[in-house]
Amino acid sequence: MSLGVLGPRERGQEGKRKVEGPSGARRGPAVRALPGTMPLKTASETLPPAPRPAAYQAGMEWTDAQIDAEAARLFHRIAQPARWDLATCRLIAPLCLEIGRLKAETDTIVLAHSYQTPDIVYGVADEVGDSYGLSKKAMEARQSRILFASVRFMAETAKILNPGKPVLLPRPDAGCSLADGITREDVLRLREAHPGVPVMCYVNTTAAVKAVCDVTCTSANYLEIARNLPGDEVVFVPDRFMGAHLAVALEGVKTVHIHDGECEVHARFDGATAKAWRESVALEGRRLEILAHPECDPKVLMEADFVGSTERMMEYARRLEAEGRVDVMPITECGTADRMRAEIPGLRIYGSCVQCPHMKKTGLVDILHALRDPERHEVEVAEEDLVGARRCLDNMFRYA
Ligand code: 13P
Ligand code: SF4
Repeated sequence: MSLGVLGPRERGQEGKRKVEGPSGARRGPAVRALPGTMPLKTASETLPPAPRPAAYQAGMEWTDAQIDAEAARLFHRIAQPARWDLATCRLIAPLCLEIGRLKAETDTIVLAHSYQTPDIVYGVADEVGDSYGLSKKAMEARQSRILFASVRFMAETAKILNPGKPVLLPRPDAGCSLADGITREDVLRLREAHPGVPVMCYVNTTAAVKAVCDVTCTSANYLEIARNLPGDEVVFVPDRFMGAHLAVALEGVKTVHIHDGECEVHARFDGATAKAWRESVALEGRRLEILAHPECDPKVLMEADFVGSTERMMEYARRLEAEGRVDVMPITECGTADRMRAEIPGLRIYGSCVQCPHMKKTGLVDILHALRDPERHEVEVAEEDLVGARRCLDNMFRYA
């Protein structure tokens, strides 16, 4: 596995400072907006309220003592007393207990992407992480069934990597703007335009697209894989921002042909706001560490101290906390900041919250439904895509 990518600042390069990034301090001092910039709201001002599941207790028989104990566990694990108070935790506790019971009864492993809400991440997930880590967990899963709390392309990837096991997707309608941004026919056209050039697809693609590509990558290994591919050209689909980052990193080594897809969440961040945050925090005599996801505009990445997948951002933030560099702004979907709050409590987290409408479709109730009615939630991959998509994913593990 590759290490996270250091941003231009950490590499000592002085690029143009144009980034954006929303943010807000978790527990830090007030941060002032700079004249002429958009108002900087703190995280507590921009975070959405905790999801409140509708009462769904039919068939559940949990005692008050069991519910109280589970609520207390959730309260401490989520570690956001303002948004996830004890009353809210008490509301979701029976669902977590019931899901836990069904998981054990049906020998199901629950994988959850970092962008899932804290009730899922700390209430019912067995494994939490980025696309790369969770793909490996899915491939190696020994349980009889996999439930993937995330979006369709991730559940499809799990099915391709572990085809003998049922893979459940709690919200079959949970898509992704990147995966929707390219078709199999688009890839075939690119192949025609660039004959003999390897085609690398981001994991955020359908099985049908993977089946006609040569190698898959994730945000944890796209640079490493592109470098390791033979030849001096590569076609990269579908993310134009990650492709642009790749083109800069491989300048003089490889020509990168890019498609025009984008993540609707990361496309919302811009350079100017991140710069404003850094300057505002500097006015308080502190240094803001900016961590950005590679699905962001390269202008955002120019401002970053570190660029990497959601899990790499977590690892980097842990190191920052250990070194006492606690003012941190993660520029990615707000689930990662939720994880930082729970798992790295010494940080002061800045940034406004941008939610992925697809990732956030899934709630605890959907997970319960999927466990109770698995047939309706099982992910299928067309027979004709299975072999090609598997080859494409196997190549990822080979080149990473
Ligand atoms: P990673 O967790 O792999 O960085 O992916 C981010 C993402 O946007 C997934 O949809
Ligand atoms: Fe797709 Fe972006 Fe949502 Fe990830 S955050 S699932 S890339 S839309």
